[in-house]
Amino acid sequence: MTGGAAVTPRPDHTSLFAHRSEEFRPSPVRAVFEIAMRPGIISLAGGNPDMSVLPHDVVAAMTARILTERGPEVLQYGSGAGIERLPGLVVELMRLQGAETTPDTIQITAGSQAGLDLVTKLFCDPGDVVVAEGPTYVGALGVFGSYEVEVAHVDVDDDGLDPDAVAERIDGLRAAGRRVKFVYTIPNFHNPTGVTLTEERRRRLVEVCAERGVLILEDDPYALLGFDRAHRLPSLYSLDPGTVIHLGSFSKIFSPGLRVGWIAAVPAVRARLQIAAEAVTIHPSVLGQELAAEYVASEHWRPALDRAVDLYRSRCAAMMAALEEFMPGGCAGRDRPAASSRGWTSTRPSTTGTSWAGPSGTAWCSCPAVPATRTGAPPRACAWPTPRPRRRTSPRGSGGWGRCCGAERRNGRAAEPRCRLRGGPSPEGASLPPPGVHRSAAVAVPSPGAILTT
Ligand SMILES: Cc1ncc(COP(=O)(O)O)c(C=O)c1O
Repeated sequence: MTGGAAVTPRPDHTSLFAHRSEEFRPSPVRAVFEIAMRPGIISLAGGNPDMSVLPHDVVAAMTARILTERGPEVLQYGSGAGIERLPGLVVELMRLQGAETTPDTIQITAGSQAGLDLVTKLFCDPGDVVVAEGPTYVGALGVFGSYEVEVAHVDVDDDGLDPDAVAERIDGLRAAGRRVKFVYTIPNFHNPTGVTLTEERRRRLVEVCAERGVLILEDDPYALLGFDRAHRLPSLYSLDPGTVIHLGSFSKIFSPGLRVGWIAAVPAVRARLQIAAEAVTIHPSVLGQELAAEYVASEHWRPALDRAVDLYRSRCAAMMAALEEFMPGGCAGRDRPAASSRGWTSTRPSTTGTSWAGPSGTAWCSCPAVPATRTGAPPRACAWPTPRPRRRTSPRGSGGWGRCCGAERRNGRAAEPRCRLRGGPSPEGASLPPPGVHRSAAVAVPSPGAILTT
């Protein structure tokens, strides 16, 4: 280009965006992860496995071996159904999760997030309704929104979704002329509440949905992270494979970065899902699938999973003890989580949308994503016990739950929280939620001023 050439104005094509793009929202999950991965941040928010449990050295050796032995094959396009041996291994995994199935029901995906997208794409038209726990996994809300699907929330209690409330909701929606396509549920160690659907309710939920011809989409990435290994409840899929589509994932039991998961569905549905998946990605990464297959079939996987669960159990205990000791009065529902990495507390309405900021700059905050519960139940916030349990040991501590709550003690006694509402935008441009709109996410930050909301 010559120096004096006139600059042609660039045409603005944003007016050509499809209507559905108005529902596209930046992924709160990504926002949390991006910040959580910054050096010095101890995240209490996202569902990332602890870095120490990600088996990078084993994966490095496996990758070298796979590429040496079968490099060209692994670097070539693969099958839309997934690599040949993976569905069989997934069947074994599902057996551990309490579900019997066969390889012809398994569609390999690029993670359960992709599974959510595919199932919604296959079943939902704009204006359809999905019934889901209130609150629910924020990544699912993004998918439903992008297909212009409405979400009807049903509150959860300590036993999970109440199936009769679900039935009532479906009947009410239908009476109002709405089409309900499926009930989206996370029955094990629910994100974000941490509750688990009881066996009795599982049976009843499947019954009420089958009676009404409504599908259930069971999102179950945490099944194998339960602290009580001896007590696993039957998956919804195992109770009625004709009514339930199951989403599984290697993200929490191996590696989220490799993006491998699966859908289990009756063969007719699975075949359609494969066509839908091929239109987007052709197939998930062959190397990622090879590694997932190799790893779960190896002698490394089970002991590593046991170690991860033990680690999360000890961190959970530290966090729950800190909550018990330091959480400001008026907070309720400090249930002991039964799995993985999720705690859950209820806050007084007056604390909705606040963050508690300590002198070291540590902070814990809530964030908006789903509406307050339909019944007006107190809004809630959750936290993840991923930080190391340091609990007020260092005067200039590096964050973490205990540190954050410890900031709320004065003169050695628990006091009203020394908190203040940070209404201004965070450095990332996110602002805190207005009262009444509330959802979980928390990050403890070691430097003053930085607070994350999603
Ligand atoms: C309930 C739930 N579903 C799906 C996902 C996404 O998992 P994946 O990494 O398999 O896409 C998450 C991640 O945290 C989750 O909590």
